[in-house]
Amino acid sequence: MEDRELAAQLRCPNGADAAEVAGRMNEANRSLNHKCIDLLQIFAADRILEIGPSNGAFVDRIVNKAAEVHYTGLDWSADMVAEAGEANAGAVTSGSARFLQGSSDSMPFEEASFDKALTVHTLYFWETPTDHLAEVRRVLNPGGLFCIAFGDLEFMQHLPFVPYGFRLYDAILGQELLRSSGFDVLEFQQHRETEVGNTGEEVEKIINIALCQRC
Ligand SMILES: C[S@@+](CC[C@H](N)C(=O)[O-])C[C@H]1O[C@@H](n2cnc3c(N)ncnc32)[C@H](O)[C@@H]1O
Repeated sequence: MEDRELAAQLRCPNGADAAEVAGRMNEANRSLNHKCIDLLQIFAADRILEIGPSNGAFVDRIVNKAAEVHYTGLDWSADMVAEAGEANAGAVTSGSARFLQGSSDSMPFEEASFDKALTVHTLYFWETPTDHLAEVRRVLNPGGLFCIAFGDLEFMQHLPFVPYGFRLYDAILGQELLRSSGFDVLEFQQHRETEVGNTGEEVEKIINIALCQRC
């Protein structure tokens, strides 16, 4: 796949290539997603929002963390929403998960609808990130937790698909953005791993993970 095409698929997986791209992301991002889910400290009856779950490969880990957890996945790709619903049919039928199409800068939820939120590898695609973060803040309970993970500028800038529409952040810029959007950064860490990336080649990844609290 051409770099421009891969960038477009990562931004919004769709069409004939979507399932393959999503499958590759699941492999590449598994340990990172597990770490973010574990950081959120999910308790019984928590209402969890995930922005950009793609095909919902890690929903099981979330809903099985505690009793009566309710999961909402919001993705702007209609193909991913459909795939995630099929892959998690049991959780959808039992009422513990739902998948909706939409963008995080305008969410169809009331204020304080969620106790916790997470998003992994999505920040780069947000034209006005403050609009998205203001919405996350609005739909979170006061004191609610938000985990966001994004590849660091230092390693991302060398990836061949990044010139096609990615906005990059380092640890300082990312934390400034979160604080100025009304979040306390409780914990900030760098997740490092060598893995096969989206291009199919081995890459040393540096991923920033921020665990925040809605002020
Ligand atoms: C690069 S993929 C990452 C998928 C998954 N979170 C992971 O870690 O493998 C980005 C996904 O987020 C979705 N997405 C990105 N920004 C979004 C936003 N602001 N609102 C809703 N969906 C978004 C895309 O459609 C895509 O499915």
